[in-house]
Amino acid sequence: MSEEEKLLEFEKRIENGEVIEPKDWMPERYRKQLIRMMSQHAHSEIIGMLPEGNWITRAPNLRRKLGLLAKVQDEAGHGLYIYSATETLGVDRQELNEQLLNGSAKYSSIFNYPTLSWADIGVIGWLVDGAAIVNQTLLAKCSYGPYQRSMVRICKEENFHKKQGYEMVSTLAGGTKEQKEMVQDAVNRWWWQSLMMFGPSDKDSPNSAELMRWKIKLKSNDELRQRFVDLTVPQARVIDIEIPDPDLKFNKETGHWEFGEINWDEFWSVVKGNGPMNKQRMAARRKAHSKGAWVREAAEAYANKHKN
Ligand SMILES: [Fe+2]
Ligand SMILES: [Fe+2]
Repeated sequence: MSEEEKLLEFEKRIENGEVIEPKDWMPERYRKQLIRMMSQHAHSEIIGMLPEGNWITRAPNLRRKLGLLAKVQDEAGHGLYIYSATETLGVDRQELNEQLLNGSAKYSSIFNYPTLSWADIGVIGWLVDGAAIVNQTLLAKCSYGPYQRSMVRICKEENFHKKQGYEMVSTLAGGTKEQKEMVQDAVNRWWWQSLMMFGPSDKDSPNSAELMRWKIKLKSNDELRQRFVDLTVPQARVIDIEIPDPDLKFNKETGHWEFGEINWDEFWSVVKGNGPMNKQRMAARRKAHSKGAWVREAAEAYANKHKN
C-alpha cells in the first residue's frame, strides 16, 4: 500500500470513530502532534503541583491539609499516566523531561502565576481544575487509545479537585468579611487566566484544524471556553461571587454568557517566558531533577544487577 493509500485508510478509520492504537499505522504528523500535546499536558500536571504545593504547610486545618495533599499527589499521578501514554508513541520519558528542562517544551501558562493567599487554593480547584475538566472530558473521547484511556480516570479525579475547590470557595464566601474579600480577590486574579487556559482564539490557533480532522481535538478552543463560562458563571452567582468582567451578560437568544475581550498580549508574554513565576517554576523543576539524580542512578544500578 502506498503512503497516500495508508493515509486515506487512516482518515477513514478516524471518520468511522475507530480508536488508533500504538502499533497501528499513523501519519508521522499525527504522532508528532500527539507527542507535542500529550507531553505538554503531562508537564502541566507536574508543574501544576508547584503553586499549590506552596500552601501545604500553611493549610488552615488538618482536613484542608489532607485534601490539598491528596490533590497535589493526584496531579503527580496524572503526569505519570500521561508520560506513560506518550511513551507508547515511541518517545523516551527522559527525552520529554529534557525538553521541559531546556525550555523547548511548554506547559500551561496558568501555572506561571503566584498563589498569594489561601483562597487561591480553593479558586484554583474551582476554576483551573474546572477548566481542565471541560478540556479533558473531550480528550477522553479522542482518537488515540492510550491518551483517551488515561483521561477516563484523570477526569474522575479532576472532578473531585473541582468539588473540593468549590466547597472551599463557597465556605470562604459565606465566612467573615475578610474571608469573603480574600476569595473575591483570588477570583479577580484567576478568572481571566482560566479563560486563557483554552488557548488562543480559533482563528489564531494554527494547529486546530488538523487536530480536529484527526479527532485529537473534538471541539475548538472558543467552543470549550464558552462551555466553561456557561458552567461557571451560575456557580459564582450561587455563592455571591462576582466575575471580574463588566461585559459579562446573558444572551437569552443563544442561551450563552457573553464575555469581554481576553488580554492576548498578556497571554503571549507569559507563553514566551515573561510571566510572574516562569523563572521560579523552571528553577524549582531543575532543582528537583538534579536532587533526584541519585534515585535514577540507584534504579539503573538495580535494574542492571537484575538483568541477567
Ligand atoms: Fe490533573
Ligand atoms: Fe486537578
